Amino acid sequence: MHVASVLLVCCAAVINGFSRATFVSDEFTIRTYTPEVVSAPSPDVITDRVVGLQRRSSVLTVGSTYLRALRRIKPANGIYSRVTTPPEALLTPVEGGLIYIAPIQWGTQRFYSVIDTGSSDTWLAGTGFTCLDQANYSILPEGACGFASTYTPTSTFSQIQGYNFNITYLDGEFLNGIMGYESLSFAGINVPHQEVAVVNLAAWTGDGRSSGLIGLAYRTLTNAYPGANASQDVPGSSVRYDPLLTTMFNSGLTNSSMFSLAVSRDPYQGGYLAIGGLPPVPYSPHFARTPITVLSVDNYGTPVNNPVYQYYTININGFAYADRTSVQFNPLPTRNTLKLSLTNNNTLAVVDSGTSVVYLANELAAKINALFQPPATWNADYGSWEVGCGSKPPVFGVDISGKIFYVNPVDMIVQLKPSFCISGVQGNNGGFSILGDVWMRNVLAVFDVGAAEMRFAAREFYGLTW
Ligand SMILES: *[C@@H]1O[C@H](CO)[C@@H](O)[C@H](O)[C@H]1NC(C)=O
Ligand SMILES: *[C@@H]1O[C@H](CO)[C@@H](O)[C@H](O)[C@H]1NC(C)=O
Ligand SMILES: *[C@@H]1O[C@H](CO)[C@@H](O)[C@H](O)[C@H]1NC(C)=O
Ligand SMILES: *[C@@H]1O[C@H](CO)[C@@H](O)[C@H](O)[C@H]1NC(C)=O
Ligand SMILES: *[C@@H]1O[C@H](CO)[C@@H](O)[C@H](O)[C@H]1NC(C)=O
Repeated sequence: MHVASVLLVCCAAVINGFSRATFVSDEFTIRTYTPEVVSAPSPDVITDRVVGLQRRSSVLTVGSTYLRALRRIKPANGIYSRVTTPPEALLTPVEGGLIYIAPIQWGTQRFYSVIDTGSSDTWLAGTGFTCLDQANYSILPEGACGFASTYTPTSTFSQIQGYNFNITYLDGEFLNGIMGYESLSFAGINVPHQEVAVVNLAAWTGDGRSSGLIGLAYRTLTNAYPGANASQDVPGSSVRYDPLLTTMFNSGLTNSSMFSLAVSRDPYQGGYLAIGGLPPVPYSPHFARTPITVLSVDNYGTPVNNPVYQYYTININGFAYADRTSVQFNPLPTRNTLKLSLTNNNTLAVVDSGTSVVYLANELAAKINALFQPPATWNADYGSWEVGCGSKPPVFGVDISGKIFYVNPVDMIVQLKPSFCISGVQGNNGGFSILGDVWMRNVLAVFDVGAAEMRFAAREFYGLTW
């Protein structure tokens, strides 16, 4: 998929019989809110309700498109546009983002689906679906949508009459379908009666391996609309239903209302997603805890608070960096002059495994990048800090609630071509700070949805290969 091709029109278009109403969501606004605390923090115990992930690089992903806008484009009057072309060439492997896919069973059929913490619907492409071109809505061969296989409802499926599934992800991908109940099995958990969507119309850029998506976000983002005709759906009028995680949590299928993510440094091993506990990876026993702030992406021009996507954000106490490993940092602002203090306290940062690198305030990113030996250089063509693939990275860490989580030096250099490497820390051009995979590989991240907090434990320098 190309950036230029997702330029969607402002006005109704009728192409090949598919009518598309005014597409308002080229523009969006954002807001943050603190989700409700509904339970005490879950105990951090290892569970066998775990699924192995596979990582795929994607040119553009659902989540990365918003984030690119959020970190690169200064909003006019608080209104962001996802179609503004970035000033520099797209560094595809980095800018495009990452997806994680995992196996899921619908009835007796097995599929791989994309794991998405930013949306809430769980869907598969249905057999016989129509694939559309995202740019001009012309019909394409099924294969062009990039699904590995399709789902044929059997006796375990029952359609919910009077509703339709309609979702537009802000990267321009959109889907229509039917709603129904199906018996799902995911991460070793059997959910006998889960509301799902079966897609019959898709404008989608798949990875060729997955057949749908599993949305792990809140109930407020589900997309079942009353009526059978998607063209008549009124934005903001969707009827909320319990998404997969909510069903699991509320029906006692897990011991606690949390999930956790351990993404892997090994490119051939994506990592783990655990539900209701922790995955079986080594980690340091100290957990840092911090409240979840939801960053909600809302369609502009639709009824207020019409959320379409979300990110988990947390408050960063400060950032630690130095040009030598012998230093000690001072997470608390005491007067111990032997220790370095942290900088940029109280920065709200998005925690996103779908983003490759770490994005920080430009000045901070510049200071950190100056400490590579030899120093990183600014590559104007790509708008990125470039480093020698054999250079020596600085120490870099992120303080959450008084504990510093360091990035393994091997993660600080991101190799894109045999002799072309960029720094793991890039500037955010005045936008949001993002803790992407470069940082996330170094932690076990707990999303305690019930307690509305995130917890992190270090996986310090595991699998160090130099
Ligand atoms: C629903 O899908 C139709 C057809 O693809 C589209 O025109 C419309 O914008 C969508 N409506 C909503 C509310 O998502
Ligand atoms: C639709 O756009 C694609 C490029 O994205 C182009 O190849 C195709 O010819 C277009 N189809 C029509 C009917 O305009
Ligand atoms: C769905 O609604 C659109 C717009 O109101 C209409 O043109 C179309 O005929 C309807 N389709 C069906 C199958 O009723
Ligand atoms: C819940 O915890 C108990 C006791 O630790 C354990 O035996 C059981 O397998 C757990 N159940 C789930 C669904 O994780
Ligand atoms: C960082 O926070 C401390 C208090 O926690 C404050 O004294 C200091 O001025 C802050 N520094 C910056 C750069 O905001």
